[in-house]
Amino acid sequence: MTIQTSVQTPITQAHIDFYRENGFVQVDDMITPGELAELREYLEEAMKSDGDRAVHTDKQGGLYYRVLNQKVNVWRDHAGMGRYTSHPRFAESARLLAGASGMRLFHDHGLWKMPGDSKATPWHQDTPYWPVNEKNPRMMSLWLTLDDVDERNGCMAFVPKSNRLGKLKGIDLADPQNIFDYVEGGQADAQKPVVVPLKAGSCTFHDGLTFHYAHANATDRPRRVLAIIYMPDGVTYNGDAHVVTDDAGLEKDRPIAGPRFPLLARED
Ligand code: SIN
Ligand code: NI
Repeated sequence: MTIQTSVQTPITQAHIDFYRENGFVQVDDMITPGELAELREYLEEAMKSDGDRAVHTDKQGGLYYRVLNQKVNVWRDHAGMGRYTSHPRFAESARLLAGASGMRLFHDHGLWKMPGDSKATPWHQDTPYWPVNEKNPRMMSLWLTLDDVDERNGCMAFVPKSNRLGKLKGIDLADPQNIFDYVEGGQADAQKPVVVPLKAGSCTFHDGLTFHYAHANATDRPRRVLAIIYMPDGVTYNGDAHVVTDDAGLEKDRPIAGPRFPLLARED
C-alpha cells in the first residue's frame, strides 16, 4: 500500500524501510508511458538546446564526455523539463524516503552515456562534490531512466549501507581513484554491490553518501537518464565554488533557498 499524503506517490512503507536500511531503493513505474514519451522528447530537446543557462560539463571527445554526456540544470533552459524537474510526485517521493519535513530542488541533470568509446562511471559518493556544511546532509538523487537499462548499457550498482561510512574524498570521475582504498578496515568490501537493471520510466533514489557505479554503454544507442538532486530544507551553503550555486546570491553558512532552489515538497 502506498503512503497517503496530499500528493500521490508510488512510495510504500517497504520502499522507505529499504532506503533507510541500505541508502538506496528501486521504485518501478515512477512515470506513465505517456509521461515517458513526453519526457524523452523534452530531454532530447534540452540536451540539444543552445540555451545558455544549463551547463554542458564536457564536449564530445573529452575524457569526461566518455563517462557522461552531462548537462546541468536543463530545467533552466526548457520549460517542459521544468515541469518534470519540479514534479510534486518526484519531490514528495524523495521527502518521504528521507523523512524530511520539506524537500528543495538542488539541481537536475541530463546524464547520457553515449555509445562508442564509453567508460563506466567509477565508484563514488555524490556529497563530497556539493558545497554544503553538513557532513550527512541527507541529500539524494532521483535517477530516472528513459531507456531500459542493464549491465550492457549503463545501469547502476550500489553498495548497500555504504552511506554509513560517512563523507569520504571526492573521486575524479574521468581519472578515478579507487574509493575502496579510502575505507578504513575494508568495511565496504564486506558488502557486495547490488546491480539494478531497470525498465524505462522506473528509477532509483540514492543517498548522496551511498557508493554507486554505472556500467559503460556497450550498445549503439545513448542511455538517457534524468537525475534530480534534492536537499532537505535547511541544508546550509559552505561558500565553495560549484556550478549550481555560483552566482545564485547565496550567503555562506545560511540555508540554501531562493528561486533556483525551490521548496518542492512539504509535510501536510
Ligand atoms: C551515471 O548515470 O552514470 C551516474 C549517476 C550518478 O553518479 O549519480
Ligand atoms: Ni553520482
